[in-house]
Amino acid sequence: MTRVKVIGAGSIGNHLSHASRRLGWEVDICDLDRQALERTRSEIYPGRYGAWDAGIGLYHTDEVPRGGYDYIFIGTPPDSHMALALEALQEEPRAILVEKPLCTPSLEGAAEFHALARERGVAAFCGYDHAISQGIAAAVSPPSLTALGEAITLDVEFREHWAGIFKAHPWLDGPESTYLGYWRRGGGSAGEHSHAINLWQRLALALGKGRVTAVSATMEYVRDGAAEFDRMCLLNLTTETGFTGRVVQDVVTRPSRKWARIQGTDGFVEWQYAYRPGEEAMFVGDSNGVVDEKIFTKSRADDFVEELRHLDAAVANGAALQSPIAVERALETMLVIAAAHRSAQSGATVRIDYGAGYVEQALS
Ligand SMILES: NC(=O)c1ccc[n+]([C@@H]2O[C@H](COP(=O)([O-])OP(=O)(O)OC[C@H]3O[C@@H](n4cnc5c(N)ncnc54)[C@H](O)[C@@H]3O)[C@@H](O)[C@H]2O)c1
Repeated sequence: MTRVKVIGAGSIGNHLSHASRRLGWEVDICDLDRQALERTRSEIYPGRYGAWDAGIGLYHTDEVPRGGYDYIFIGTPPDSHMALALEALQEEPRAILVEKPLCTPSLEGAAEFHALARERGVAAFCGYDHAISQGIAAAVSPPSLTALGEAITLDVEFREHWAGIFKAHPWLDGPESTYLGYWRRGGGSAGEHSHAINLWQRLALALGKGRVTAVSATMEYVRDGAAEFDRMCLLNLTTETGFTGRVVQDVVTRPSRKWARIQGTDGFVEWQYAYRPGEEAMFVGDSNGVVDEKIFTKSRADDFVEELRHLDAAVANGAALQSPIAVERALETMLVIAAAHRSAQSGATVRIDYGAGYVEQALS
């Protein structure tokens, strides 16, 4: 029986716990806040999935068992991820999944976690679930790539007003009361909607265009009480092969738009999340318009089942390093986030030197 520890009884902790149960796994959830544990049992889990599942163990962090878990999932705020991930490594699970964004823009702890996970032989993943969705797999499948011809440019947008996020967290008062309102803690649009940066990188790699090496960013930072965050994050990206494109992330757009488009010499490929409620869409077209569309019907809860099934198979097949949600891909996303803040604040293009490792010194 696969045993899972989920750290953090919040929004994502509930999704990952529910997905694990759907896969027939044993689940213990822990949190340092007893109110969060109670809210999971009486509100979040039954509210989302119909009923509380009494087979799930609920523990305060001080009381949760240590050791004996196959997988440890970390679903806490970004500024706690690396310390918890380093602790989780001591338990020697088969794999650790850390939620996105992997860490804060300072990259503190990231290189250490990566090196130690490798040394201990623990597979490490990050929760950029869209990267392994059926829609994205279809977007980079051989028929789509053939229809594109040579890719010329790539746009990815994840634009969603805070309201969507706070709807999933009715117990929070607003950005100031959580990491979301603090860019240095991994919040703001660059961190919270970093699915877009990650997808841009995922698609560029699949197109054979390489990793991002230059970031030119415009961000709009706002202050709201004690909070300080970027509400708009506009990025121009260039890869090591000279391929260029654009990412837009914001916390102001409503209704939300989560979208990607690859323009090629012969045609285009477009992807849209929540194209219609409960539907992910992928379109292939030429200069006259859409010639093929694929619709994938699913709920947000289903996305996490798909993600964990992928993780489980990658671990079983020894293929963690090749996974689009491998921690290495998320570390590359963190370098772009860190470069974006530096670029927006200095007004200069920031370059990434992957040879320097997953540290701030990789940026110049
Ligand atoms: N993959 C996705 O699409 C997705 C969706 C939602 C959230 N997330 C990510 O998941 C993370 C958490 O977001 P959330 O919305 O679930 O937050 P949340 O505020 O709903 O829940 C976080 C929980 O972690 C607990 N916590 C904080 N520090 C802890 C610690 N040291 N030990 C144990 N518990 C601790 C808090 O008490 C809280 O209950 C963020 O990084 C977020 O970006 C990812």
